[in-house]
Amino acid sequence: MESQIATDEQINDPGLFSPISVGPLNISHRVVLAPLTRMRTVSGSVPNDLMVKYYVQRSTPGGFLIAEATQVSSRGNGYFNSPGIFTDEQETGWKTLVEAVHAKGSLIFLQLYHAGRVSHSSLQPDDGLPLGPSVVPHQNVAGTPNGWEATTLNRMLEVDEIKETVKEFGKATARARAAGFDGVELHGANGYLVDQFLQNGSNKRTDSYGGSIENRSRFLLEVVEEMVNNWSGNRVAVRLSPSGRFNDMSDSDPLALFSYVTEQLNKFGLAYLHVIEPRVVGSYMEKEGIEPVASIHLRKIFKGRIIAAGGFDRDGAAAIIKKGHADLVAFGRHFIANPDLPYRYRHGLPLNPYDRETFYGGNEIGYLDYPFFQED
Ligand code: FNR
Repeated sequence: MESQIATDEQINDPGLFSPISVGPLNISHRVVLAPLTRMRTVSGSVPNDLMVKYYVQRSTPGGFLIAEATQVSSRGNGYFNSPGIFTDEQETGWKTLVEAVHAKGSLIFLQLYHAGRVSHSSLQPDDGLPLGPSVVPHQNVAGTPNGWEATTLNRMLEVDEIKETVKEFGKATARARAAGFDGVELHGANGYLVDQFLQNGSNKRTDSYGGSIENRSRFLLEVVEEMVNNWSGNRVAVRLSPSGRFNDMSDSDPLALFSYVTEQLNKFGLAYLHVIEPRVVGSYMEKEGIEPVASIHLRKIFKGRIIAAGGFDRDGAAAIIKKGHADLVAFGRHFIANPDLPYRYRHGLPLNPYDRETFYGGNEIGYLDYPFFQED
């Protein structure tokens, strides 16, 4: 339970409420909005007025928001009514949203993604098969026009298609920049295309994109390079879930894999590395007897800012910053239910509970109607 009355120490908390730089940006506090797919575009994957209001509600002067996973091409879609950034109309929709967030003084990155095998033919152009590094049967669902449905087994990407997909991330980066975003975060986490290449449970390729850790990391590194070439290193970030099992992921040696990836990322001078901690019960690899990999490990390797996420409350977030394993903390579910989360944390106020039923899809209910804290 959150306490009602904040101590002076909490109000002046040097961890959560002190400023910090991220790339060229000056951020005023460390309570970050995690990227959260909400499936509210209503049609055409174009950001709309509902979304503008949602992000504006969560904007604070000098605060930092990471906008939801946004597909870089129509083939990258895994969730009906999730946004894209590959058409002029989508770019324009984002531009309006970014301007509104900036007017509130907040900074905002866009998370770029490709769902890869976590998709369904009803979401694909021409009802085609989803794409993935290899064809490995898996237990996943996609958010289709008819609700949650088992994914359609993907086909394997040809090498020329891999190169084309890398380019799509570059084009999306250029569009995000044109839309006015402060930067872009590559979604390399949670079992989507980039992660599918990284982990050997889903990548069985025998060419230069599969096999060794170096080969499995090639796709991610080519994508990051392309993104950096379309903007600059300090405007690009990467999110990883080194211990995540979500979307049926597995790897035989995550510590070696993610240590290598992190080391390689140093050469780009990224804005930050975003690490999903092995804290969310039931979604990490510990059960298989594999030591979970967390920011505590990657901190020793990565020469830049680290955002940690996953299962944090105010005190847990303050603690990880104090210990030095991370610089900022991203909040998902609590930020969904509490548009004024930074204010509540700063003042030790109680939180609204979240409603899972309205996480994905629908209208303003469970999206725009969570109350701000009001003094009695
Ligand atoms: C997520 N998460 C997520 N992660 C991501 O990288 N891109 C995304 O678009 C989404 N979408 C998403 C939607 C919803 C409804 C939830 C609940 C989660 C994961 C999210 O960013 C975060 O890592 C987790 O929610 C764990 O953090 P909390 O909720 O424990 O603070």
